[in-house]
Amino acid sequence: MLTGKTIVLGVTGGIAVYKAADLASKLTQAGAVVRVIMTKNALEFVTPLTFEALTSNSVIIDMFDTDAEHRINHIALSEIADVIVIVPATANVMAKITGGLADDMLTTTVLATHAPVIFAPAMHTAMWENPVTRENSAKLVNRGYYIIEPAVGRLASGGLGQGRLPETEVIISHIKMVLGQKGDLAGKRIVVTAGGTHEPIDPVRVISNRSSGKMGYALAEAARDRGAEVTLITTPTALNRPVGIRISEVETAVQMQKEVAKAVIDTHALIMAAAVADYQVAETSVNKIKKERGDLTLKLVHTPDILAEVKGTFLKIGFAAESQDLIANARKKVKNKKLDLVVANDITEEHSGFGADTNKVVLIGKDGMPENLAVMSKRAVADRILDRVVRLLVDQPKA
Ligand code: CTP
Repeated sequence: MLTGKTIVLGVTGGIAVYKAADLASKLTQAGAVVRVIMTKNALEFVTPLTFEALTSNSVIIDMFDTDAEHRINHIALSEIADVIVIVPATANVMAKITGGLADDMLTTTVLATHAPVIFAPAMHTAMWENPVTRENSAKLVNRGYYIIEPAVGRLASGGLGQGRLPETEVIISHIKMVLGQKGDLAGKRIVVTAGGTHEPIDPVRVISNRSSGKMGYALAEAARDRGAEVTLITTPTALNRPVGIRISEVETAVQMQKEVAKAVIDTHALIMAAAVADYQVAETSVNKIKKERGDLTLKLVHTPDILAEVKGTFLKIGFAAESQDLIANARKKVKNKKLDLVVANDITEEHSGFGADTNKVVLIGKDGMPENLAVMSKRAVADRILDRVVRLLVDQPKA
């Protein structure tokens, strides 16, 4: 989704500028056209050559540059930008833009643009916490600018606190989210479940499964990047929390059912990517079960079938992880659980299965016709599923 997008990267003078180079590189590799504007103070930390080499574009510094190659005026950049991102954003640049100052190429471009502007502030904790910076941040947000909260950690000054530039991946997630706001799921609310449920045996042990949560997280992020308002109901996973998504953490199938019931009020689609345990322990032990008890037999009882029992007029999309008779079993699930779409995968196949970054799935709608997808990344699978969701929402808009 970054391919062909023009991203104006404003670089201001803070010690985190070296991380802006990494961002410029990753955005360029992802297919974006990156146009860098540096402030004079940024030049004290790195030379324009770094960014020119990484982006294959000249760097713009001076508003009054007469060099023909650099004579791209500030209005031109403000007009061609799909998004402007200021990394790192000093307290100074935030204050200048809050006050409407336009005394260099970057601030002038920001003042003149209609494109969304994202600030990634990085500064000493005391500066970040200073009431004037707090006030400027609030004003910028009120005016529709985006601010990525600085991370907490070790600062260049040696201290610990809030003020670190977030990781490149976090900044890229924000850029994608902002770029996607007018996407084909804009104005739509989507609930996604992810991960394998944990059914407790005692305070220490659980019954769970091999689900990594990757498919559900990919769906949540892809929906967000197409403009949807996403709620992700997730069990504990090793994955980073995605930005710009409402997250609700649960452990058991029963807890997930409660959260789903709350989240689906007024939703357009529910996508159940979670691997929900079919059984839970009949009586969870309050104390840790000691091994002196000898052999142990656990009585398991059914968990609720969340997808089959949930009520509402929204689209219902389920998964069918099968090890045999893929299509027939998936068709059964469409019917029995009254689904609009089922995503079936053969977990015995090499590129599917739990934990993998790729998946090979078959999409089956109410008509039972299989759409076989090739092996692709879970993110690409997510987008193909969402293509179907978009079409289904056109065919049967929410009542
Ligand atoms: N599911 C659910 N609640 C459950 C079990 C499953 O909501 N208690 C959802 C899953 O999230 C998935 C779909 O139902 O979207 C199918 O899950 P799957 O485990 O493949 O099927 P089951 O209905 O459990 O049937 P079986 O395990 O017998 O194949």
